[in-house]
Amino acid sequence: MSSYKIIDHEYDVIVLGAGGSGLRAAVGLSEAGLKTACISKVFPTRSHTSAAQGGISAALGNMGEDDWRWHMYDTVKGADWLGDQDSIEYLCKEAPKAVIELEKYGVPFSRTDDGKIYQRPFGGMTKNYGNGIVQRTCAAADRTGHAILHTLYGQALKHNTEFFIEYFALDLLMKDGACKGLIAWNLNDGTIHRFRAHSTIIATGGYGKVYYAATSAHTCTGDGNAMVLRAGLPLQDMEFVQFHPTGIYGHGTLISEGVRGEGGYLVNSKGERFMERYAPKAKDLASRDVVSRSMSIEIKEGRGVGKEQDHIHLHLSHLDKKVIEHRLPGITEAARLFANVDVTKEPIPVVPTVHYNMGGIPTNYKAEVLTVNGSEKTVPGLMAIGEAACVSVHGANRLGSNSLIDLVVFGRAAAKRASELVKPGTPHEDIGEIETEKCLERFDKLRNANGENSTAELRLAMQKTMQSKCAVFRTDKTLKEGVDEIRKTYDGMSSISVKDKSLIFNTDLVETLEFDNLIRQAITTVDSAYYRKESRGAHAREDFPKRDDEKFMQHTLSWCNGKDTKIEYRPVHKKTLTNEVQYFPPQERVY
Ligand code: FUM
Repeated sequence: MSSYKIIDHEYDVIVLGAGGSGLRAAVGLSEAGLKTACISKVFPTRSHTSAAQGGISAALGNMGEDDWRWHMYDTVKGADWLGDQDSIEYLCKEAPKAVIELEKYGVPFSRTDDGKIYQRPFGGMTKNYGNGIVQRTCAAADRTGHAILHTLYGQALKHNTEFFIEYFALDLLMKDGACKGLIAWNLNDGTIHRFRAHSTIIATGGYGKVYYAATSAHTCTGDGNAMVLRAGLPLQDMEFVQFHPTGIYGHGTLISEGVRGEGGYLVNSKGERFMERYAPKAKDLASRDVVSRSMSIEIKEGRGVGKEQDHIHLHLSHLDKKVIEHRLPGITEAARLFANVDVTKEPIPVVPTVHYNMGGIPTNYKAEVLTVNGSEKTVPGLMAIGEAACVSVHGANRLGSNSLIDLVVFGRAAAKRASELVKPGTPHEDIGEIETEKCLERFDKLRNANGENSTAELRLAMQKTMQSKCAVFRTDKTLKEGVDEIRKTYDGMSSISVKDKSLIFNTDLVETLEFDNLIRQAITTVDSAYYRKESRGAHAREDFPKRDDEKFMQHTLSWCNGKDTKIEYRPVHKKTLTNEVQYFPPQERVY
C-alpha cells in the first residue's frame, strides 16, 4: 500500500485541461446541469490556446460569398484525404454557429466597417471548390486564441464549473475497459487526489515538445495522450506532425500565417518570391505542408538567407502601416523582441517550425474515444477533444485556423454527448484500490529515482533525434535511425535522476513525469512514420514520394507499452453524415 493519503472527489463529468476545447466543454456541461470539474496543470488563461494568433475558420460569408461545403472541400483536400469526412462535415457545418456563440459570449473580434466579424484569407481556404481565395478566418487582430481563452474562462466561472488549478494528472482510472476518472497531484500543497466521474474528457493539447524547435509552450507535453497509452489504448496518426512555415529563426516563436493572409510574402536569397514556382495559384497561401516543404527545398538547394543560408525572409514592410498596427500588433512585438526586427522596415527571419500534432487520441465526431478490436468500438466513460484528440478532421495536414474551430465545435459536441449519456447525480460504483496503487507506484518510482541521467539531458537527446530523424523530409534510413535512437533514450530512463524529492512545486519531478509522457509519444510518432511507406500531407518520404491510396488511405493506430509498439490500421470514414453534401473522392492535391 502506498503511503499517500488520498483525497476523494466525485463529479458527474471531469474535464482534464483548461485550454479552448476544455473550457468550451466545461461551459456546456455546467450549463446542462452536470456537476463538472476542470483540472489543469496551469492557470486556465496560461493554456497554450492563448498562443493561437491568426484566427478561427467559419464560412460566415462576411467578406464575400462563402459556403460550409467549400470549407469542407478545402479541409478534405488540406488533410490529403486522410480525414474522416463525417467529422469534417460536422466541423464545417457547425462552425458558423460556434463562432456566433463565441461572439455572444463576448470574444472581442476585429470588425469590418459595417460592424461584422472581420475575416482574413488563410492558407488553403478557397471559394467554389478551389477556385479563388476566400476570406474565412475570423480574427481578433493576431491574438485570437488569447481573446477566446479569456472569454471562455469567464463563461466557465459564470456557469459554476469547479476548477482544480495546478493539479498534475498522473493516470486514468480504468475498470473492465471503462474509464472511471483519474488521479492527480496538487502541485501547490503536495496532496494526491482521486477524481471519480461518469465521463472523463481529455483536453490536454498537443505534444510539440518532443521536438527541439517548436512554437509550442514548455507545457505542451501531451499528458493525456500518454495516459491513454498507459491505459492500453491506441493513439492515431502520430506520424503527422505539422511544421508551421514561419517560426522565428533561432527562437521558434510563431509568426502568424495571418501575415501572409494580409499580403506578406516569402523571399529567398536571390530575392525571389519562390512560392510562385511551387504553388502557382495559391502561392504563399498554399497549405502549410506545401509551404514548409518549399522553404526546406530552397534552403537545401542553397537559396536560404543569412550567413549560413539556413532560413527564409518574410516580408511585410510593404503593407499599409494601419494594417500592421491594427491587425498584426502581436507579431510586430514578437519580431522586435525575438528577432530585433522592425517589421515596417525589415523582413522577419523565419524557418519551418513544429507547430501542431494532427495525431492523437482517436475519437468519433461526438468526441467519444475509439479503440479497435476487430472493428471500431467506443471506450465507455472516456472522451477526448482539441489537439489531444484525433477526430480526425485534419487528417495528414491541418489548415491554418481550423484548430481553433476544432476546439470549440468538438468541445461543444463533447458537452452535448456527455449530457445525453450522464444523468446528473448518478452514484459512483466502487472501483477498488488496484488502479490507484499502480498509478502511485509509477509516481513513487520516478520521485525516488536516484540514477545518473538528468531529465534535461534525456529530453534534449529525444528532441534532437526527433528534429533530425523525423523532420519535414523523411527516408527509411533516417526513420530507422530515429526508431533505434529514441529507444536508446528511453533506456536512459531506467537510470534517471530526480534530485528534489519534495511534493510541493517540485518542477524536477513535474518535468520527469512530462518526459515520461513525451518519450512514449516520440516512440509512437517515429514508429508510425517508419511504417507509412508513402507521402501524404505533412508526412513527406523522399523514398516514397507518391501518395498510395490503395495501401495507406488508412489511419495508423499505435499502442505503446514502454518501448514496444504495436501498429495497426483502420479505414478512413468515407460516408458523410447527411445528404446535404457528397463524399469528396481523392484527387491530385495541387495549389
Ligand atoms: O499562423 C497562425 O496564426 C496559426 C494558426 C493556426 O495554427 O491555426
